[in-house]
Amino acid sequence: MIRTRAAVLTTVGEPLRLTDIHVDDPEPHEVRIAVTHVGLCHSDLHYMSGTVATELPVVVGHEVAGIVETVGSAVTHLRPGDPVVGALTPSCGECANCNTARSTQCLRLDEIRRRPRPAYTLPDGTPVSRLGDLGAFSEHILLRANAAVRLPDDVPTRVGCLLSCCVVTGVGAVFRGARVRPGSTVAVIGCGGVGSAIIQGARLAGASAIVAIDLDEQRLRAARGYGATHTVNGGVDDPAGAIRALLGEGVDYCFEAVGSARTAATALAVVRPSGTACLVGIAPGGTELTLPASDFFFGEKRLIGSYMGSGQAREDIAQLARLYQHGRLLLDEMVTEVIEFDQINEGFEAMTSGAVTRIVVAMPGCSDHSPTQELR
Ligand SMILES: NC(=O)c1ccc[n+]([C@@H]2O[C@H](COP(=O)([O-])OP(=O)(O)OC[C@H]3O[C@@H](n4cnc5c(N)ncnc54)[C@H](O)[C@@H]3O)[C@@H](O)[C@H]2O)c1
Ligand SMILES: [Zn+2]
Ligand SMILES: [Zn+2]
Repeated sequence: MIRTRAAVLTTVGEPLRLTDIHVDDPEPHEVRIAVTHVGLCHSDLHYMSGTVATELPVVVGHEVAGIVETVGSAVTHLRPGDPVVGALTPSCGECANCNTARSTQCLRLDEIRRRPRPAYTLPDGTPVSRLGDLGAFSEHILLRANAAVRLPDDVPTRVGCLLSCCVVTGVGAVFRGARVRPGSTVAVIGCGGVGSAIIQGARLAGASAIVAIDLDEQRLRAARGYGATHTVNGGVDDPAGAIRALLGEGVDYCFEAVGSARTAATALAVVRPSGTACLVGIAPGGTELTLPASDFFFGEKRLIGSYMGSGQAREDIAQLARLYQHGRLLLDEMVTEVIEFDQINEGFEAMTSGAVTRIVVAMPGCSDHSPTQELR
Protein backbone atom coordinates (compact mmCIF):
# COMPACT_ATOMS: atom_id res chain seq x y z
CA MET A 1 0.00 0.00 0.00
CA ILE A 2 0.99 3.63 -0.39
CA ARG A 3 0.24 6.71 1.65
CA THR A 4 -1.30 9.61 -0.22
CA ARG A 5 -3.47 12.68 0.23
CA ALA A 6 -7.22 12.71 -0.34
CA ALA A 7 -10.17 15.04 0.23
CA VAL A 8 -12.31 13.06 2.66
CA LEU A 9 -15.98 13.72 3.48
CA THR A 10 -16.48 12.77 7.11
CA THR A 11 -19.73 14.67 7.82
CA VAL A 12 -22.48 15.48 5.35
CA GLY A 13 -22.84 19.22 4.85
CA GLU A 14 -19.29 19.98 6.01
CA PRO A 15 -16.30 20.84 3.79
CA LEU A 16 -14.03 18.09 2.45
CA ARG A 17 -10.94 17.59 4.61
CA LEU A 18 -7.55 17.10 2.95
CA THR A 19 -5.93 14.30 4.88
CA ASP A 20 -3.58 11.31 4.47
CA ILE A 21 -5.06 7.95 3.51
CA HIS A 22 -3.60 4.57 2.59
CA VAL A 23 -4.32 3.23 -0.89
CA ASP A 24 -4.13 -0.55 -1.25
CA ASP A 25 -1.99 -2.29 -3.88
CA PRO A 26 -3.82 -3.18 -7.12
CA GLU A 27 -5.56 -6.55 -7.29
CA PRO A 28 -4.78 -8.63 -10.44
CA HIS A 29 -7.50 -6.81 -12.49
CA GLU A 30 -6.83 -3.33 -11.15
CA VAL A 31 -4.49 -0.46 -11.94
CA ARG A 32 -3.21 2.28 -9.71
CA ILE A 33 -3.39 5.75 -11.22
CA ALA A 34 -1.56 8.93 -10.28
CA VAL A 35 -4.42 11.39 -10.68
CA THR A 36 -3.61 14.51 -12.68
CA HIS A 37 -7.03 16.16 -13.10
CA VAL A 38 -10.54 15.78 -11.66
CA GLY A 39 -13.65 17.73 -12.64
CA LEU A 40 -16.11 18.94 -10.03
CA CYS A 41 -19.49 17.43 -10.92
CA HIS A 42 -22.83 18.27 -9.40
CA SER A 43 -23.19 14.59 -8.46
CA ASP A 44 -20.28 14.99 -5.99
CA LEU A 45 -22.20 17.87 -4.48
CA HIS A 46 -25.30 15.66 -4.04
CA TYR A 47 -23.31 13.32 -1.77
CA MET A 48 -21.57 16.18 0.03
CA SER A 49 -24.86 17.93 0.77
CA GLY A 50 -26.79 14.74 1.57
CA THR A 51 -29.39 14.99 -1.22
CA VAL A 52 -28.13 11.52 -2.18
CA ALA A 53 -27.18 9.14 0.65
CA THR A 54 -23.61 7.87 1.08
CA GLU A 55 -21.56 5.85 3.56
CA LEU A 56 -19.07 7.88 5.60
CA PRO A 57 -16.19 8.55 5.59
CA VAL A 58 -16.04 8.69 1.82
CA VAL A 59 -13.84 10.09 -0.93
CA VAL A 60 -16.10 11.52 -3.64
CA GLY A 61 -14.88 12.72 -7.05
CA HIS A 62 -15.26 10.69 -10.23
CA GLU A 63 -14.61 12.86 -13.31
CA VAL A 64 -11.01 11.76 -13.47
CA ALA A 65 -7.93 11.43 -15.64
CA GLY A 66 -4.39 10.50 -14.72
CA ILE A 67 -1.35 8.39 -15.48
CA VAL A 68 -1.11 4.64 -14.92
CA GLU A 69 1.43 3.95 -12.19
CA THR A 70 1.20 0.22 -11.42
CA VAL A 71 -0.78 -2.50 -13.12
CA GLY A 72 -2.18 -5.69 -11.54
CA SER A 73 -0.75 -9.05 -12.62
CA ALA A 74 -3.66 -9.84 -15.00
CA VAL A 75 -3.68 -6.49 -16.82
CA THR A 76 -2.37 -6.69 -20.36
CA HIS A 77 -3.72 -3.63 -22.20
CA LEU A 78 -2.28 -0.85 -20.02
CA ARG A 79 1.24 0.02 -18.95
CA PRO A 80 2.78 2.41 -16.45
CA GLY A 81 2.96 5.85 -18.04
CA ASP A 82 -0.28 5.50 -20.06
CA PRO A 83 -2.64 8.48 -19.74
CA VAL A 84 -6.15 7.25 -18.92
CA VAL A 85 -9.66 8.41 -18.16
CA GLY A 86 -11.64 6.62 -15.46
CA ALA A 87 -15.11 5.31 -16.24
CA LEU A 88 -17.62 5.46 -13.42
CA THR A 89 -19.37 2.34 -14.56
CA PRO A 90 -17.08 -0.70 -14.40
CA SER A 91 -18.64 -3.77 -15.99
CA CYS A 92 -18.06 -7.51 -16.24
CA GLY A 93 -18.20 -7.54 -20.05
CA GLU A 94 -20.03 -10.87 -20.02
CA CYS A 95 -23.54 -10.56 -18.53
CA ALA A 96 -26.75 -10.19 -20.55
CA ASN A 97 -26.64 -6.39 -20.31
CA CYS A 98 -22.92 -6.06 -21.07
CA ASN A 99 -23.45 -8.33 -24.09
CA THR A 100 -26.14 -6.04 -25.47
CA ALA A 101 -24.21 -2.75 -25.18
CA ARG A 102 -25.82 -1.77 -21.86
CA SER A 103 -22.72 -2.00 -19.69
CA THR A 104 -24.00 0.87 -17.52
CA GLN A 105 -26.51 -1.68 -16.21
CA CYS A 106 -24.02 -4.54 -15.67
CA LEU A 107 -25.76 -7.28 -13.69
CA ARG A 108 -22.61 -8.39 -11.88
CA LEU A 109 -21.59 -5.02 -10.48
CA ASP A 110 -21.67 -6.07 -6.82
CA GLU A 111 -19.54 -9.10 -7.58
CA ILE A 112 -16.88 -7.27 -9.59
CA ARG A 113 -16.68 -4.45 -7.07
CA ARG A 114 -15.86 -6.79 -4.19
CA ARG A 115 -12.24 -6.59 -2.99
CA PRO A 116 -10.48 -8.69 -0.36
CA ARG A 117 -9.36 -5.52 1.49
CA PRO A 118 -10.71 -1.95 1.53
CA ALA A 119 -9.19 0.13 -1.25
CA TYR A 120 -8.79 3.15 1.03
CA THR A 121 -8.16 3.31 4.76
CA LEU A 122 -7.37 6.09 7.19
CA PRO A 123 -3.93 5.73 8.86
CA ASP A 124 -5.69 4.18 11.92
CA GLY A 125 -7.11 1.43 9.69
CA THR A 126 -10.70 2.78 9.36
CA PRO A 127 -12.03 1.87 5.88
CA VAL A 128 -12.96 4.80 3.64
CA SER A 129 -15.65 4.40 0.94
CA ARG A 130 -15.17 5.57 -2.63
CA LEU A 131 -17.88 7.21 -4.74
CA GLY A 132 -18.63 4.80 -7.58
CA ASP A 133 -15.66 2.68 -6.50
CA LEU A 134 -13.53 5.49 -7.86
CA GLY A 135 -13.04 8.07 -5.09
CA ALA A 136 -11.13 10.41 -7.36
CA PHE A 137 -10.40 13.30 -5.00
CA SER A 138 -7.20 11.50 -4.08
CA GLU A 139 -3.70 11.88 -5.47
CA HIS A 140 -3.71 8.14 -6.22
CA ILE A 141 -6.67 5.91 -7.01
CA LEU A 142 -7.37 2.28 -7.88
CA LEU A 143 -9.47 1.40 -10.92
CA ARG A 144 -10.65 -1.84 -12.39
CA ALA A 145 -8.55 -2.11 -15.54
CA ASN A 146 -11.63 -2.26 -17.77
CA ALA A 147 -12.80 1.04 -16.28
CA ALA A 148 -9.58 2.76 -17.37
CA VAL A 149 -9.72 4.07 -20.91
CA ARG A 150 -6.46 4.92 -22.70
CA LEU A 151 -6.41 8.60 -23.67
CA PRO A 152 -4.63 9.55 -26.92
CA ASP A 153 -1.31 11.31 -26.19
CA ASP A 154 -2.48 14.59 -27.74
CA VAL A 155 -5.62 14.88 -25.58
CA PRO A 156 -4.49 16.65 -22.38
CA THR A 157 -5.78 15.08 -19.16
CA ARG A 158 -6.85 18.60 -18.12
CA VAL A 159 -9.72 18.39 -20.61
CA GLY A 160 -9.76 14.60 -21.01
CA CYS A 161 -11.12 14.18 -17.48
CA LEU A 162 -14.45 15.64 -18.64
CA LEU A 163 -14.93 12.64 -20.93
CA SER A 164 -15.22 10.48 -17.86
CA CYS A 165 -18.50 11.96 -16.61
CA CYS A 166 -20.25 15.01 -17.99
CA VAL A 167 -19.31 14.48 -21.64
CA VAL A 168 -19.93 10.73 -21.89
CA THR A 169 -23.18 11.27 -19.97
CA GLY A 170 -24.44 14.15 -22.10
CA VAL A 171 -23.41 12.95 -25.55
CA GLY A 172 -24.39 9.37 -24.65
CA ALA A 173 -27.87 10.49 -23.57
CA VAL A 174 -28.33 11.95 -27.06
CA PHE A 175 -26.94 9.07 -29.13
CA ARG A 176 -27.55 5.97 -27.03
CA GLY A 177 -30.32 7.08 -24.67
CA ALA A 178 -32.80 9.09 -26.73
CA ARG A 179 -31.25 8.31 -30.16
CA VAL A 180 -31.85 11.78 -31.56
CA ARG A 181 -32.50 11.74 -35.28
CA PRO A 182 -30.98 14.30 -37.67
CA GLY A 183 -33.25 17.28 -38.32
CA SER A 184 -35.19 16.88 -35.09
CA THR A 185 -35.72 19.59 -32.49
CA VAL A 186 -34.18 19.39 -29.02
CA ALA A 187 -34.52 21.27 -25.74
CA VAL A 188 -32.06 21.01 -22.84
CA ILE A 189 -33.05 22.04 -19.32
CA GLY A 190 -29.97 22.92 -17.25
CA CYS A 191 -26.84 24.08 -19.05
CA GLY A 192 -24.02 23.19 -16.66
CA GLY A 193 -21.36 20.60 -17.47
CA VAL A 194 -23.84 17.87 -18.38
CA GLY A 195 -26.28 20.14 -20.22
CA SER A 196 -23.45 21.70 -22.27
CA ALA A 197 -22.41 18.20 -23.35
CA ILE A 198 -26.02 17.34 -24.27
CA ILE A 199 -26.16 20.49 -26.41
CA GLN A 200 -22.94 19.43 -28.15
CA GLY A 201 -24.34 15.92 -28.64
CA ALA A 202 -27.49 17.37 -30.21
CA ARG A 203 -25.34 19.49 -32.52
CA LEU A 204 -23.31 16.41 -33.52
CA ALA A 205 -26.57 14.47 -34.09
CA GLY A 206 -27.71 17.12 -36.59
CA ALA A 207 -30.59 18.60 -34.60
CA SER A 208 -32.25 21.41 -36.55
CA ALA A 209 -33.02 23.49 -33.45
CA ILE A 210 -31.50 23.27 -29.96
CA VAL A 211 -33.26 25.28 -27.26
CA ALA A 212 -31.18 25.83 -24.11
CA ILE A 213 -33.15 26.47 -20.91
CA ASP A 214 -31.50 27.70 -17.72
CA LEU A 215 -32.06 30.28 -14.98
CA ASP A 216 -28.67 31.90 -15.52
CA GLU A 217 -28.00 34.29 -18.41
CA GLN A 218 -24.25 33.51 -18.48
CA ARG A 219 -24.92 29.79 -18.83
CA LEU A 220 -27.37 30.58 -21.64
CA ARG A 221 -24.75 32.69 -23.44
CA ALA A 222 -22.22 29.86 -23.13
CA ALA A 223 -24.85 27.41 -24.39
CA ARG A 224 -24.91 29.22 -27.75
CA GLY A 225 -21.18 28.57 -28.04
CA TYR A 226 -21.79 24.83 -27.62
CA GLY A 227 -24.47 24.79 -30.32
CA ALA A 228 -27.76 26.10 -28.89
CA THR A 229 -29.81 27.89 -31.54
CA HIS A 230 -32.29 29.46 -29.08
CA THR A 231 -32.25 30.21 -25.36
CA VAL A 232 -35.02 30.51 -22.78
CA ASN A 233 -34.58 31.86 -19.27
CA GLY A 234 -36.80 29.50 -17.27
CA GLY A 235 -36.91 31.98 -14.40
CA VAL A 236 -38.53 34.59 -16.66
CA ASP A 237 -40.55 32.68 -19.25
CA ASP A 238 -42.60 29.51 -19.12
CA PRO A 239 -40.47 27.03 -21.15
CA ALA A 240 -43.42 25.27 -22.83
CA GLY A 241 -44.98 28.55 -24.00
CA ALA A 242 -41.62 30.00 -25.05
CA ILE A 243 -40.78 26.90 -27.11
CA ARG A 244 -44.18 26.97 -28.86
CA ALA A 245 -43.61 30.64 -29.64
CA LEU A 246 -40.15 29.92 -31.04
CA LEU A 247 -40.79 26.70 -32.97
CA GLY A 248 -44.55 26.61 -33.47
CA GLU A 249 -44.89 23.35 -31.51
CA GLY A 250 -43.16 21.34 -28.80
CA VAL A 251 -39.74 19.74 -29.35
CA ASP A 252 -39.06 16.18 -30.49
CA TYR A 253 -36.71 15.57 -27.55
CA CYS A 254 -36.15 17.29 -24.23
CA PHE A 255 -33.27 16.45 -21.90
CA GLU A 256 -33.51 17.30 -18.21
CA ALA A 257 -30.05 17.97 -16.71
CA VAL A 258 -30.90 19.61 -13.40
CA GLY A 259 -32.33 16.88 -11.16
CA SER A 260 -35.75 17.82 -9.74
CA ALA A 261 -39.35 16.67 -10.03
CA ARG A 262 -40.30 20.10 -11.31
CA THR A 263 -37.82 20.20 -14.19
CA ALA A 264 -38.68 16.57 -15.02
CA ALA A 265 -42.34 17.60 -15.39
CA THR A 266 -41.25 20.55 -17.54
CA ALA A 267 -39.27 18.18 -19.77
CA LEU A 268 -42.41 16.15 -20.47
CA ALA A 269 -44.49 19.32 -20.96
CA VAL A 270 -42.22 20.81 -23.63
CA VAL A 271 -42.12 17.78 -25.94
CA ARG A 272 -44.69 17.53 -28.70
CA PRO A 273 -47.09 14.57 -28.93
CA SER A 274 -45.01 11.40 -29.60
CA GLY A 275 -41.83 13.22 -28.46
CA THR A 276 -39.34 11.90 -25.91
CA ALA A 277 -38.36 13.40 -22.55
CA CYS A 278 -35.07 12.06 -21.17
CA LEU A 279 -34.16 12.46 -17.50
CA VAL A 280 -30.43 12.84 -16.90
CA GLY A 281 -30.28 15.02 -13.78
CA ILE A 282 -30.08 13.17 -10.46
CA ALA A 283 -33.00 14.14 -8.24
CA PRO A 284 -32.72 13.96 -4.42
CA GLY A 285 -33.20 10.45 -3.00
CA GLY A 286 -36.91 9.56 -2.62
CA THR A 287 -38.11 12.03 -5.27
CA GLU A 288 -41.32 10.90 -6.97
CA LEU A 289 -42.85 12.27 -10.15
CA THR A 290 -46.46 13.29 -10.69
CA LEU A 291 -47.18 13.60 -14.40
CA PRO A 292 -50.31 14.02 -16.56
CA ALA A 293 -51.24 10.49 -17.63
CA SER A 294 -52.98 11.77 -20.78
CA ASP A 295 -49.58 12.89 -22.12
CA PHE A 296 -48.81 9.19 -22.45
CA PHE A 297 -52.03 7.68 -23.82
CA PHE A 298 -53.42 10.54 -25.91
CA GLY A 299 -50.10 12.29 -26.56
CA GLU A 300 -48.02 9.09 -26.96
CA LYS A 301 -45.13 10.85 -25.28
CA ARG A 302 -42.22 8.79 -24.02
CA LEU A 303 -40.32 9.29 -20.78
CA ILE A 304 -36.90 7.68 -20.49
CA GLY A 305 -33.79 8.05 -18.34
CA SER A 306 -30.13 7.92 -19.17
CA TYR A 307 -27.28 7.05 -16.83
CA MET A 308 -23.62 7.71 -17.66
CA GLY A 309 -24.33 7.74 -21.38
CA SER A 310 -26.38 4.53 -21.48
CA GLY A 311 -23.72 2.51 -23.13
CA GLN A 312 -20.20 1.27 -23.42
CA ALA A 313 -17.98 3.76 -21.65
CA ARG A 314 -14.71 2.44 -23.09
CA GLU A 315 -15.84 2.60 -26.71
CA ASP A 316 -17.67 5.89 -26.27
CA ILE A 317 -14.85 7.68 -24.45
CA ALA A 318 -12.40 6.65 -27.18
CA GLN A 319 -14.77 8.01 -29.86
CA LEU A 320 -15.34 11.23 -27.94
CA ALA A 321 -11.58 11.74 -27.73
CA ARG A 322 -11.44 11.45 -31.53
CA LEU A 323 -14.20 14.03 -31.91
CA TYR A 324 -12.13 16.38 -29.73
CA GLN A 325 -8.99 15.70 -31.77
CA HIS A 326 -10.88 16.75 -34.91
CA GLY A 327 -12.23 19.92 -33.30
CA ARG A 328 -15.84 18.72 -33.33
CA LEU A 329 -16.26 18.35 -29.58
CA LEU A 330 -15.39 21.43 -27.54
CA LEU A 331 -13.66 20.53 -24.30
CA ASP A 332 -11.14 23.35 -23.74
CA GLU A 333 -14.05 25.79 -23.69
CA MET A 334 -15.85 23.73 -21.04
CA VAL A 335 -12.91 23.87 -18.60
CA THR A 336 -13.42 27.42 -17.49
CA GLU A 337 -11.28 27.21 -14.35
CA VAL A 338 -8.39 25.05 -13.14
CA ILE A 339 -7.77 25.11 -9.38
CA GLU A 340 -5.29 23.53 -6.97
CA PHE A 341 -6.25 20.54 -4.79
CA ASP A 342 -6.30 22.58 -1.58
CA GLN A 343 -8.86 24.97 -3.15
CA ILE A 344 -11.38 22.18 -3.70
CA ASN A 345 -14.00 23.46 -1.24
CA GLU A 346 -13.84 26.95 -2.76
CA GLY A 347 -14.23 25.25 -6.15
CA PHE A 348 -17.52 23.69 -5.07
CA GLU A 349 -18.74 27.10 -3.91
CA ALA A 350 -17.74 28.66 -7.24
CA MET A 351 -19.62 25.94 -9.15
CA THR A 352 -22.89 27.76 -8.63
CA SER A 353 -21.59 30.79 -10.54
CA GLY A 354 -22.88 30.99 -14.08
CA ALA A 355 -19.43 32.06 -15.27
CA VAL A 356 -18.14 28.47 -15.20
CA THR A 357 -19.11 25.40 -17.15
CA ARG A 358 -16.67 23.06 -15.38
CA ILE A 359 -14.06 23.57 -12.68
CA VAL A 360 -11.16 21.12 -12.81
CA VAL A 361 -8.71 20.37 -9.98
CA ALA A 362 -5.06 19.95 -11.03
CA MET A 363 -3.39 17.53 -8.63
CA PRO A 364 -0.10 18.57 -7.02
CA GLY A 365 2.05 16.00 -8.84
CA CYS A 366 0.90 16.90 -12.35
CA SER A 367 2.75 19.24 -14.66
CA ASP A 368 -0.26 20.93 -16.27
CA HIS A 369 -1.70 23.55 -13.92
CA SER A 370 -2.66 25.97 -16.73
CA PRO A 371 -5.15 28.33 -15.13
CA THR A 372 -7.19 28.94 -18.25
CA GLN A 373 -7.81 27.14 -21.46
CA GLU A 374 -5.94 27.80 -24.67
CA LEU A 375 -8.78 28.14 -27.10
CA ARG A 376 -8.22 26.38 -30.36
N1 LIG B 1 -27.46 10.63 -15.32
C1 LIG B 1 -26.15 10.68 -15.17
O1 LIG B 1 -25.45 9.75 -15.53
C2 LIG B 1 -25.51 11.90 -14.57
C3 LIG B 1 -24.11 12.08 -14.70
C4 LIG B 1 -23.56 13.25 -14.21
C5 LIG B 1 -24.34 14.20 -13.57
N2 LIG B 1 -25.67 13.96 -13.44
C6 LIG B 1 -26.56 14.93 -12.80
O2 LIG B 1 -26.90 15.92 -13.78
C7 LIG B 1 -27.26 17.13 -13.12
C8 LIG B 1 -26.46 18.27 -13.70
O3 LIG B 1 -25.09 18.11 -13.37
P1 LIG B 1 -24.02 19.25 -13.72
O4 LIG B 1 -22.73 18.76 -13.19
O5 LIG B 1 -24.18 19.65 -15.14
O6 LIG B 1 -24.57 20.43 -12.79
P2 LIG B 1 -24.21 21.99 -12.84
O7 LIG B 1 -24.34 22.47 -11.47
O8 LIG B 1 -22.92 22.18 -13.59
O9 LIG B 1 -25.38 22.58 -13.77
C9 LIG B 1 -26.72 22.62 -13.40
C10 LIG B 1 -27.38 23.72 -14.24
O10 LIG B 1 -28.79 23.68 -14.01
C11 LIG B 1 -29.26 25.03 -13.94
N3 LIG B 1 -30.54 25.02 -13.22
C12 LIG B 1 -30.77 24.86 -11.91
N4 LIG B 1 -32.11 24.89 -11.65
C13 LIG B 1 -32.73 25.06 -12.85
C14 LIG B 1 -34.08 25.16 -13.26
N5 LIG B 1 -35.08 25.08 -12.39
N6 LIG B 1 -34.35 25.35 -14.58
C15 LIG B 1 -33.35 25.42 -15.48
N7 LIG B 1 -32.03 25.32 -15.15
C16 LIG B 1 -31.73 25.14 -13.86
C17 LIG B 1 -28.14 25.76 -13.22
O11 LIG B 1 -28.21 27.16 -13.45
C18 LIG B 1 -26.91 25.12 -13.90
O12 LIG B 1 -26.55 25.79 -15.09
C19 LIG B 1 -26.99 16.88 -11.62
O13 LIG B 1 -28.19 16.49 -10.99
C20 LIG B 1 -26.01 15.73 -11.65
O14 LIG B 1 -25.99 14.99 -10.46
C21 LIG B 1 -26.27 12.85 -13.94
ZN1 LIG C 1 -20.43 13.26 -12.58
ZN1 LIG D 1 -21.93 -7.19 -16.92
